[in-house]
Amino acid sequence: MNDRAQKHHVAPPSDAATNVIEGDASTILEDWPESSADLVYLDPPFNTGRAQTGRAGTYADRWDSAEAYRNALRPVLAQAHRLLKPTGSILLHCDWRTCHYSRLELDGIFGEENFVNHLIWAYGLGGSSPRRFARKHDDILFYGRSTSYYFDPPMVPATSARMRGELKKATDVLQIPAINNMARERTGYPTQKPLALLELLIRACCPAGGRVVDPFCGSGTTLVAARALGRRAVGIDRNPEAVRIARERLERLEQVGRGADSAPAEVGAGSSAVGPD
Ligand SMILES: C[S@@+](CC[C@H](N)C(=O)[O-])C[C@H]1O[C@@H](n2cnc3c(N)ncnc32)[C@H](O)[C@@H]1O
Repeated sequence: MNDRAQKHHVAPPSDAATNVIEGDASTILEDWPESSADLVYLDPPFNTGRAQTGRAGTYADRWDSAEAYRNALRPVLAQAHRLLKPTGSILLHCDWRTCHYSRLELDGIFGEENFVNHLIWAYGLGGSSPRRFARKHDDILFYGRSTSYYFDPPMVPATSARMRGELKKATDVLQIPAINNMARERTGYPTQKPLALLELLIRACCPAGGRVVDPFCGSGTTLVAARALGRRAVGIDRNPEAVRIARERLERLEQVGRGADSAPAEVGAGSSAVGPD
């Protein structure tokens, strides 16, 4: 992820509520102070082997080998570890292509004892195949910086007939629709994640007023969700199109509030039309 990057210094995050920085994640994070983040959420390219293109942007998503991909991601994970407070945690968003390797990387950097969850984001989208079970989920690997990590269990609508209308603690399978074609939050940036997913994760893993870092922020979903929930947020992306979109979304949020950007948070089963990665 940093193969073509040049070293340049970018000031560490100030106390400003939100910041979006253009550049390479691993080199930028090097200059930031340790123990300064409550949550690092990363949604890097998934190594699909092809460019990801949407109406409002495109980014490269191909490495020559699985090893090259791992070598590019490792320094960002190591910096995330350094950046986190002892009560902090990391959420790495990936899929079947790299999840197995990433779990081993995180075991190595964070320690096996700090593994917390392998979350499944079940988005229920896309076609089927006559040759295998249809792939309908992404993976989110959750590790604490120590065993004293912050966690506030999220509540979601119960689905059983007995508990209809009530809330229950979320399981490790998060059923949240991918972004609908008609959704107001849709920016046209490829592989944009839904606000409902990020809101659930941030509420659970970052205390009110805490700082969230997203080294691959894309259209800024994490930053918008964090700000709407009263957390501070810093995003990095090397793609100027992503940085522009993320800044515009944040400006809109400051002007008119979360309603301007989003469809209401839906958690549970539902249909969807825009693919994750
Ligand atoms: C999967 S997308 C993130 C989507 C984002 N979560 C959203 O909701 O819009 C991955 C992003 O990582 C960025 N990226 C790839 N390599 C990077 C690097 N070395 N440093 C910073 N950003 C990088 C790409 O430009 C792309 O915007």
